[in-house]
Amino acid sequence: MRYDVITLFPEIIESYCSSSITKRGIENNIISVKTHNPRDFTLDKHKKVDDTPYGGGDGMVLMCQPIYDCYNSIEKLGNPAFIMLSPQGEKFNQNISTELANYDQIILLCGHYEGFDERIRTLLKPREISIGDYVLTGGELAGLVIIDSVSRNLPNYLNKEDSAHFDSFSKGLDGLLEYPQYTKPREFMGLNVPDVLLNGNHKEIDEYRKSESIKRTKQRRPDLLN
Ligand SMILES: C[S@@+](CC[C@H](N)C(=O)[O-])C[C@H]1O[C@@H](n2cnc3c(N)ncnc32)[C@H](O)[C@@H]1O
Repeated sequence: MRYDVITLFPEIIESYCSSSITKRGIENNIISVKTHNPRDFTLDKHKKVDDTPYGGGDGMVLMCQPIYDCYNSIEKLGNPAFIMLSPQGEKFNQNISTELANYDQIILLCGHYEGFDERIRTLLKPREISIGDYVLTGGELAGLVIIDSVSRNLPNYLNKEDSAHFDSFSKGLDGLLEYPQYTKPREFMGLNVPDVLLNGNHKEIDEYRKSESIKRTKQRRPDLLN
């Protein structure tokens, strides 16, 4: 998977991608992450990429030209997914993440300040995705959420130790929440690990986990049971 991120703050993307599993995914050539800065494309002599809104009001609006030219400079592999990060978009979830993992390339357009000149949407026709009903300072965190989540669906991205097969929302759990997990020691502050997890009977362990997963989903996210 190749990710191309259009951002005025490439260091945010690069910093996150240089650690943990994302770093390993890049080193193993399973993903690549390239940043593209619209400021490098502006024709303005002061390198401006934003200006005040027509009609008045607070904040600065991202101008069309630097973003349009920056997007067009990116090499396209076939038919990439092109995503604008926006609080006004469809809400991101595991289904969208799985769907996006089928692409060879994802281009992520991160906004900042007051957001985009509307003509960027009209001309480039991105798919708009939000990571939740709240407003962030910029699209970089949201773009990283997508990179992180989509990559976890790719073959060989995760080791057996960090496998996602039984994560919450996964197919392995029929889309439900994960059951409670325990590790050593067996007893901590008077709290014991459930006996069923210690008896080595995998059929019983599977049944226990399934019922805990259903119980937890009923309590916390009954909407998922449908
Ligand atoms: C301060 S926000 C602009 C919000 C815009 N004025 C509005 O009301 O829709 C700046 C940028 O952060 C990103 N952003 C903010 N909240 C987001 C969210 N919930 N999901 C995805 N991106 C978000 C977008 O790229 C947005 O252009």
